[in-house]
Amino acid sequence: MSSLPLVSHGSGPEALAEAVDNGHVVILVDILRASSTIVTALAHGAEKIIPVPTVEEARERIYYYPNGFLAGERAAHPPAGFDFGNSPRSFRTDRIQGRPLILTTSNFTRTLGTPPDDATILVGAFLNIDHVALIARQLAYEMEQPISVISAGSMQGVAAEDDFGSYHIMSRIQFPDDPPSYADTSDIARELLVSRHGSLLVQAGYEADIYFCAQPNRYHLTPILRDSAFVPFTPYND
Ligand code: MLT
Repeated sequence: MSSLPLVSHGSGPEALAEAVDNGHVVILVDILRASSTIVTALAHGAEKIIPVPTVEEARERIYYYPNGFLAGERAAHPPAGFDFGNSPRSFRTDRIQGRPLILTTSNFTRTLGTPPDDATILVGAFLNIDHVALIARQLAYEMEQPISVISAGSMQGVAAEDDFGSYHIMSRIQFPDDPPSYADTSDIARELLVSRHGSLLVQAGYEADIYFCAQPNRYHLTPILRDSAFVPFTPYND
């Protein structure tokens, strides 16, 4: 493989399944808000994040994790009986350290589905943009595989805010030594706010989440899917 890793982009469950089938290093991106939530919860010490596609499955799985929490959203809000919604700002170390979270969201966990155990799936957000780009590059070289950056998308198809985030992650993968292709948090937030999902989150009362998710490099951690749960990537859990 040349010094520039081969990077492609896709959106939604079919694109993810194809990238996984082809053995690619996959970065799954749901800027508002699931990717940002997973990165933040692990950065605040959650033991692992167990993604499940449906609210019903989440409610069933929690019985296997007596010290676990239910987290996620439908139509932006926490489903009934859940401990947390999908607001990354709600995950504080004093509540979640060492505890597993079972997470279900409208698009991210639906797009993820149930990938095979040998899939290499990382989680990308602005919050960890340089770290995820670095880890993806390392894995691509080690595995001699290209990188696929996959936007989670939405029920309606593509999601502009995910494509915007994916584009910037791809740029950091390809040109890590160049200045970033975004200016700062307010520059990123401006784009997120005008997206369809950004407007819905503002209407639902979660505008502060958008500014939170727009912070580049707040965390130096990359979630990776291991044994059906996201954990922080370390060279030893590969
Ligand atoms: C999703 O996965 O659909 C999103 O993260 C929704 C949200 O919480 O904004």
